[in-house]
Amino acid sequence: FQPKYLRGLKMLVTAGPTFERIDAVRGITNSSSGKMGFAIAKAAADAGAELTLVAGPTMLCTPYGVRRINVVSAQDMLAAVNAEVAKIDIFVSVAAVADYHVLNQSEHKIKKDANILTLELAPNPDILANVASLADPPFCVGFAAESENLLDYAEAKRRRKKLPLLAANLVQQAIGADDNEVILLDDDGQHRLPRAAKEEVARAIVKHAARLYNKYHPE
Ligand code: PMT
Repeated sequence: FQPKYLRGLKMLVTAGPTFERIDAVRGITNSSSGKMGFAIAKAAADAGAELTLVAGPTMLCTPYGVRRINVVSAQDMLAAVNAEVAKIDIFVSVAAVADYHVLNQSEHKIKKDANILTLELAPNPDILANVASLADPPFCVGFAAESENLLDYAEAKRRRKKLPLLAANLVQQAIGADDNEVILLDDDGQHRLPRAAKEEVARAIVKHAARLYNKYHPE
């Protein structure tokens, strides 16, 4: 690979959690820090890709040269991705999207009393599955965070969402941490990456994605 091996390619990365509002002050979210997704965005931008990063709420700084779109909910993330998707060559979905949103949201702060409060949850759209099932989809890379049966669940997800490449990681080791251990799953099988800092893991994932992208799109 040349240092700028992604020059000329447009990439979209989602990262971080989504936050689903309950009322004016409360919400449902997960503990994704955004570190893995931001590291992917940085690695791809450093390799010359024109990079757009759609980020849920995180404390992280935008990597140099990256265009960032901030979103809050899964619905916002879907809208931001849909607005970009026709322009891109590669989509990497690292975000830990909340699977549900609250139907009975309250505009005002819900007052505390002795009654049991019931939240009605409705499923969120699957952003990655939507993109991968477009008539002319970009090259799609998914992630799977599992707490058990990592390889079986991840490979099932890859097939269900029709992804050429998926990065599988154990949620207990990956979420919030500075390092990660990832197994890449593609049509050739499994490729285990050694545990390393997320920046290094990201560089390896981006290289693997570029290799496969070139295989699927020979010049
Ligand atoms: O942010 P960090 O603290 O660094 O942690 C990194 C990470 C653990 C969040 C990351 O490495 C990771 O595994 N991200 C995917 C987490 C996840 O939600 O996986 P999933 O198995 O629920 O979803 C599978 C794939 O579909 C993912 O690519 C996800 O982005 C996508 N998805 C899921 C649900 C949904 N509604 N829309 C989606 O696009």
